[in-house]
Amino acid sequence: MVGPPGSGKSMLAARLPSILPPLSAAELLEVSMIHSIAGQLSGGKLSDRRPFRTPHHSATMAAMVGGGLRARPGEASLAHHGVLFLDEFPEFSPQALDALRQPLETGECIIARANHRVSYPASIQLVAAMNPCRCGMAGEPGHSCARGPRCQSDYQARISGPLMDRIDIRIDVPAVSAADLIRPMAAETSAAVAARVALAREIQQDRFIAAGLTGIATNARCSTAAIEKYAEPDAGGLQLLRDAAEKMRFSARGYHRVLKVARTLADLDGKPTVGRIHLAEAISYRIAGERLTVAA
Ligand SMILES: Nc1ncnc2c1ncn2[C@@H]1O[C@H](COP(=O)(O)OP(=O)(O)OP(=O)(O)O)[C@@H](O)[C@H]1O
Ligand SMILES: [Mg+2]
Ligand SMILES: [Zn+2]
Repeated sequence: MVGPPGSGKSMLAARLPSILPPLSAAELLEVSMIHSIAGQLSGGKLSDRRPFRTPHHSATMAAMVGGGLRARPGEASLAHHGVLFLDEFPEFSPQALDALRQPLETGECIIARANHRVSYPASIQLVAAMNPCRCGMAGEPGHSCARGPRCQSDYQARISGPLMDRIDIRIDVPAVSAADLIRPMAAETSAAVAARVALAREIQQDRFIAAGLTGIATNARCSTAAIEKYAEPDAGGLQLLRDAAEKMRFSARGYHRVLKVARTLADLDGKPTVGRIHLAEAISYRIAGERLTVAA
């Protein structure tokens, strides 16, 4: 999420747990084991709420992905089956951020030691928030940064290209005007959204069970071969995807990730086939960030 100060990025992220389904029994067990190893099982109490971790931007690489003398799990593993929220994204150290690249791909953190390795699961939903530039106001109507366009490009360049490539949904969070707050638009409750999320996840689970792909519960976690099969778009969608992939020079990873997002949008829509409309939306989420990288 990219937006000026006070536009509600941190607030949005904090609401995310309210639309996530509760942990299953098996997931709860995994999460509890990790928290127990980390000495973070508060009072031995178990909760079926998904983890929501918000490390400070001063977090070291070891704090993020695990390590230290006793090879403890890091924030990415403590967020297993839940959300890792990085507020003020560009303020994190480049080492800590880039250490997340591997877990985001494989869903596990590997801590290498002189003569052995420890691996902890880290199947996470990464959510990050940032201002568009250091002063926070780039792109706002009537504003020009004191340092000019470099204010924005220098700040955004702190997020490396490979890390950005792993972020599938990139959205601008525009400033909210007082008028918007005085006359709020009709809003959906978190409970209503949570019901939609639960339904879409059920569809995904059924899909992978039917295909005999055990151990996969979501589109996000399925292999590239599987997503090509299950997210095969209709003719209109395919044309759109081809054009966009060429014009925006999607990486191979980007291409498959767009398919995964589109498949999920179709699931939320209750549609068996991925249509042009789902692909258009998925592509728009990726393009928002391509603009970012171009600016950088
Ligand atoms: N869409 C909104 N509806 C209602 N209140 C809002 C909205 N957006 C922001 N606010 C109010 O503004 C406050 C600040 O929002 P928040 O801290 O999430 O901003 P932010 O985008 O994280 O800013 P920063 O870039 O400074 O961290 C919220 O606590 C809330 O009171
Ligand atoms: Mg904030
Ligand atoms: Zn600026």
